Amino acid sequence: MKYNASIRKLSEIKSDITCIFSFQKSALGQQASDLDTATNQSLSKSIKNLGFKSELGSSITITSLDANSKQIIIVGLGEQKALNKASILKAAASATKDILAHTPKTITLGISDLAEHTAEAAEAFSSSIASASYRFETYKSEKSKKPTPTQLTFVCDKKEQNGVKKALGYSQAKSIGMALTRDLGNEPGNVATPSYLAKVAKEMAKEFNSLSCKVLEEKDMEKLNMGAFLSVSKGSTEPGKLIVLEYKGGAAKSAPHVLVGKGITFDTGGISLKPGPAMDEMKYDMCGAASVLGTMRAIAELAPKKNIIGVIAAAENMPAGNASKPGDIVTTASGQTVEILNTDAEGRLVLCDALTYVEKFKPKSVIDIATLTGACIIALGHSTSAVMSNNDEFAETLLQCGQEANDKAWQLPIWDEYHKQLDSPFADMQNIGGKGAGSITAACFLSKFAKKYTWAHLDIAGTAWTSGANKGATGRPVPLLLNYLMNHAK
Ligand code: BES
Ligand code: MN
Ligand code: ZN
Repeated sequence: MKYNASIRKLSEIKSDITCIFSFQKSALGQQASDLDTATNQSLSKSIKNLGFKSELGSSITITSLDANSKQIIIVGLGEQKALNKASILKAAASATKDILAHTPKTITLGISDLAEHTAEAAEAFSSSIASASYRFETYKSEKSKKPTPTQLTFVCDKKEQNGVKKALGYSQAKSIGMALTRDLGNEPGNVATPSYLAKVAKEMAKEFNSLSCKVLEEKDMEKLNMGAFLSVSKGSTEPGKLIVLEYKGGAAKSAPHVLVGKGITFDTGGISLKPGPAMDEMKYDMCGAASVLGTMRAIAELAPKKNIIGVIAAAENMPAGNASKPGDIVTTASGQTVEILNTDAEGRLVLCDALTYVEKFKPKSVIDIATLTGACIIALGHSTSAVMSNNDEFAETLLQCGQEANDKAWQLPIWDEYHKQLDSPFADMQNIGGKGAGSITAACFLSKFAKKYTWAHLDIAGTAWTSGANKGATGRPVPLLLNYLMNHAK
């Protein structure tokens, strides 16, 4: 989809659909009035005839024979003085449905009447339309015949044009990143293997000069004593990979921000085998890794003057004759030993060695992203990711990043009280914390490997994909991560 910020007259732009906005209890704004005049008053007539009140999220569609646009949608924004980010997001979500119901190829939105909110609106509407137009049809013999939009034009005043352009650039990069994250998540487990993720990372590094990629093989990880990672990957015929994708945009000496993604390309549970129903959804257990690749892709597009490193711990968790067994004890790269009481708590095992590995970058911040615990869904449901951190200020920043990016997260504590749930009679720790606070004890486990830097863990078990009839990866938490790296990371 092409994005454009135009200062032409709205009524002069040929488009399949033109979208214009109106406020409750107010006369039409200048841009809407101009379009009304140019279309023989079809806007004001329809508003009157249909009793349209411009309530937030409501809309009417007009088929005007006088217009350059086949259809005009008027979107209500509620009362003008109450207009804010939340109401714009709400209007964007409902307008997107109405717009896409007409399967337009070209969409034009007149946003001048939103005054100081034009840039915000450009981001909200473009993100929402891009996200709703996403499809994953790789394996359908017959592709959907409905067209998806190819051109999205925002029409604004001259003084807003630069702000709108900037917002669209950001939005487009974010959407490209999210689409990659969703594609990787939706790929089946027999295709999206650890080697496949490594290939995608390498290809991305070829495409962008600012990126370089290195892949550690199992033999390299043996040299680094990554006994925890290897205890997971050894049960699979697919070799595990530790993928390192470096973006260099800052000074050589500037310390990087690091993302670490859980890339379990299929999680059967291992010998602690998962029950059958819905096990297919464990192909999504690499969505943390997918969000790292999607965010790195968006970063490469936006080219900030910072250094950012994405690391992916990729392995398949299988039951096998040579798989880890409950009670096995392994030594991690950090030297700490772990008693594996449940082979289904494998995410923390691959991540802990990756967290030790990234110490060598002397990072300014490290965020790991993982579909780590079913308990996270019990705690926060499917709308909110969990944040746990060794630094409350950092956690607070990430919550704010999520809030701003419409990709919400909430903090859970990792206080000392919880750590004793990981005490093992035989090793330095065990890999499960027993009954209660399952997401917290998982984060407590990870924190024991993240002592040398500012660190946060995002549990995206509830937010990375949706189940049911609309099964599919969501692209979250790319918006949160991108907002952090672009706008908040020092
Ligand atoms: N990948 C799962 C977590 C998960 C389950 C995410 C369902 C989304 C939906 C993870 O590897 C896992 O199996 N965790 C266990 C941990 C337990 C054994 C302590 C879980 O949540 O049951
Ligand atoms: Mn598991
Ligand atoms: Zn898992």
